[in-house]
Amino acid sequence: MKTLIVTGGSAGIGRQIAHRLASDDNEVVLVGRNTDRLKEAETSLVNDGLNCRTAPLDVRDADAVKHLVENLPRVDGVVNNAAGNFTARTIDLSLNGFRAVVEISLYGTFNFSTAVARRLIAEGRPGAMCNIITTYAWTGAPGVAHSAAAKGGMLAFTKSVAGEWGEHGIRVNAVAPGFVPTESATTHILSSPAAADRMLERIPLARFGRTEEIAEAVAFLMSEQAAYITGSVLTVDGGRSLGPSMHEMPSKQDLT
Ligand code: HXC
Repeated sequence: MKTLIVTGGSAGIGRQIAHRLASDDNEVVLVGRNTDRLKEAETSLVNDGLNCRTAPLDVRDADAVKHLVENLPRVDGVVNNAAGNFTARTIDLSLNGFRAVVEISLYGTFNFSTAVARRLIAEGRPGAMCNIITTYAWTGAPGVAHSAAAKGGMLAFTKSVAGEWGEHGIRVNAVAPGFVPTESATTHILSSPAAADRMLERIPLARFGRTEEIAEAVAFLMSEQAAYITGSVLTVDGGRSLGPSMHEMPSKQDLT
């Protein structure tokens, strides 16, 4: 049985990823800041007969990350899912606000990826990593420049270390979800029901994604089925990032 770490694993997409990976007969280590939420997620997984342990820590705390990764009985990979986010006009954003988001998403990914890679390389064992970015990592998006900067950094980091660690049998990929209306994303990102409707209009598959659909993509990339895939990004956004050209002429009506 492999041991896979999932950061931000107590809620939303992270919790679903943890559940999905554990269903594949992996032990999962849920990392998060909120002990109560971690315990609740752990109970839910254990009640489903799955193998799980929790690690309450802040992904920005490099020493705590190193201590965890060095002291787990076994480590085979990590899913870097923990993310900070909120919407703000960039000119109104404080340095601390920018820093908080970049440090959670990008530095957190650096902290866990390097700690896991160091251990795997020292033990001479292969491994897999998956970084949860989003499509605005390459498109950009107004109102979330801090998050886009972090996710763009994660994308470049993914490809860079995939090249560096491939010789050690460590695969590093990314999944880029579109908008998934989890409780946290809805609270922090959606300004109004009208904003949700505007987003929906631009999704060719005409609906938002589900946490299960993101987890499925992650499970694939973390599995042996993806043994020859590294440095790739799997976009799971219903076609949203295909862009506005999808909605330009000829319209769907013209084609019928
Ligand atoms: C402006 C804000 C803010 C807000 C926090 N800050 N929230 N600024 N608008 N809504 C500023 C604070 O004022 C402070 O700066 C700085 O950020 C740090 O805040 P703290 O609360 O001290 O820090 P911390 O708890 O470490 O982090 C706050 C946080 C984090 C970054 C907001 O709690 C967080 O991200 N929580 C939400 C996680 C989340 O929703 N993840 C899922 C995202 S879904 P000052 O200058 O005052 O000290 C997603 C989907 C993307 O990303 C869409 C895809 C298409």
